[in-house]
Amino acid sequence: MLKKHVFVTRKIPMDGLRIIKQEFHASVWENEMPPSKEQIIENGKDCEGIVTLLSDPISADIIERLPNLRVIAQYAVGYDNIDLKYATKRGIIVTNTPGVLTETTADLTWALIMAASRRIVEADRYVRRGNWRVAWGPELLLGSDIHGATLGIIGLGRIGAAVARRACGFDMKILYSSRSTRESDKSLPENLGAQRVDMDTLLRESDVVTLHVPLTPETRHLIGKVELAKMKPSAILVNTSRGPVVDEEALYQALRSKRLAAAGLDVFAEEPIRLDSPLLELENVVLLPHIGSASTRTRSTMAKMCAENLRAALSGARPPNIVNPEVL
Ligand code: DGY
Repeated sequence: MLKKHVFVTRKIPMDGLRIIKQEFHASVWENEMPPSKEQIIENGKDCEGIVTLLSDPISADIIERLPNLRVIAQYAVGYDNIDLKYATKRGIIVTNTPGVLTETTADLTWALIMAASRRIVEADRYVRRGNWRVAWGPELLLGSDIHGATLGIIGLGRIGAAVARRACGFDMKILYSSRSTRESDKSLPENLGAQRVDMDTLLRESDVVTLHVPLTPETRHLIGKVELAKMKPSAILVNTSRGPVVDEEALYQALRSKRLAAAGLDVFAEEPIRLDSPLLELENVVLLPHIGSASTRTRSTMAKMCAENLRAALSGARPPNIVNPEVL
């Protein structure tokens, strides 16, 4: 039997790629730089499936020009880069990789919380630049305590809940706000004593605010000038969700004027961040290149999951992680 054609927009880990290459006639985009819109169309024009990354904008006009397309297998949990409405209208299955990256992303969120509050990256720069001339400084690089502080989690999905569980060891008070039903709050062990509060209370009372919402029209610029002004001047903001959830210009102003103590960002309005972004000039922000799920094991598991979704969808079975089941 002739193998079905699929296009993989980047080299994903071998554990997934092996399955895809065995099963399909696969063309893989080997460059580090993402394919352009025209290149996606050119490579995907005969394909029944494509494997996409969050940096591939799969818009309606791309989908329209891929006439044989039956499945878009996203190598990520978030899929805001895909025009889901249009894909669904065309009857195209969209899948993602939920669950497997929860703990890894929660770990990185904590790395950012610790780094921003204890000024770890700034301290490392201080040493490397040869600024450490006095053995011990009573007021050198003072940061803020995490233990006993109040953690505010915006969005209590899988990752938000995993971040909350880790706070237990730091004796933190946990506040959260969530759009979902109270049923989902059961993902939090009772002994955490986490309190559901409104956004206003969360922003005013938290020492650390961490964002775990998907990017939707409602969450775009969820944190802007007004929200930042409600936060304590000693507070830190951490974002490992999607860049546009924060108004970057407002955040820059808040950090520059010390209206906000610090921030830890893994995601940005534009990725990669532009080298002339003013955020790069600030000492009180830790900047990471979107590596929330970047552990070897998790990326391999994501690749396998993505391949299994593709395989199931193209063999007529229900893929394990379909985001638009209404197309079936
Ligand atoms: C996702 O999966 O959505 C992350 O942002 C990347 O792993």
